[in-house]
Amino acid sequence: MKRIIGSTIDSISTIDSTNNYAAAQLLTKSLSEGFVVVATSQNVGRGQGQNQWESESGKNLTFSIVLYPEFLEIRKQFELSKIISLGVLDFLLSLGIKASVKWPNDIYLGDKKVAGILIENSIRGSKISTAIVGIGLNINQQIFISNAPNPVSLSQYTGLIYPLEEALNQLCSFIDVRYHQLIQKNFDLIDRDYMTNLYRCDIWASYSDQDGDFGGRILGVDEIGQLEIEKRNGEIVKYQFKEVVFK
Ligand code: BTN
Repeated sequence: MKRIIGSTIDSISTIDSTNNYAAAQLLTKSLSEGFVVVATSQNVGRGQGQNQWESESGKNLTFSIVLYPEFLEIRKQFELSKIISLGVLDFLLSLGIKASVKWPNDIYLGDKKVAGILIENSIRGSKISTAIVGIGLNINQQIFISNAPNPVSLSQYTGLIYPLEEALNQLCSFIDVRYHQLIQKNFDLIDRDYMTNLYRCDIWASYSDQDGDFGGRILGVDEIGQLEIEKRNGEIVKYQFKEVVFK
């Protein structure tokens, strides 16, 4: 199996955002599939939506991967999100840490967020021509100062300090295995593993949507990545990103 992810790694000290850097590089030159850019520090680390991504310089992994998943139809694009999350989970499990995926692609230790993923796709026709996959994994940071609701690092969780370079290499190799499953269109395996590791799946908990607070139980995720929640009255509602809040 030819290694795709992390076959080339570009390390830079300070940049606005590794996602921006990868996008800018792609405007002027071609990058091999699996190219990784990692930064010691990001000035404007970007999170989902309007959020910023907090990461203390030199303490965590903040990097982006360039992929060309042209084999994946747009309606299947959530599968890419799934395999990236699963690669992060596999890596954490190799360290003896059991994490889960909070839909759509936050990585959680217990009820706290240890990693975030920001995927930016370019579409050509009905296919994804380029995906820039940004990953922020909190590793050795001890104190978080932003108003992010519930951040945690691996080090806070285990009391250990982790070498970043080795962590990046390992993480890329676990994501690589999952990316090959995607290339092989092994959706049954990917979907099953995503479901098995889905935060709060099948557990009654509190949520809110445009109609207010409610009790619900996550049933799963549909083909296009919408979250399916059963309400107490038996109604099953599908949500797109940002339409439902976990309380
Ligand atoms: C989230 O809000 O959960 C997504 C966070 C994604 C952060 C990573 S860090 C590397 C890459 N560059 C960015 O500017 N953002 C992503």
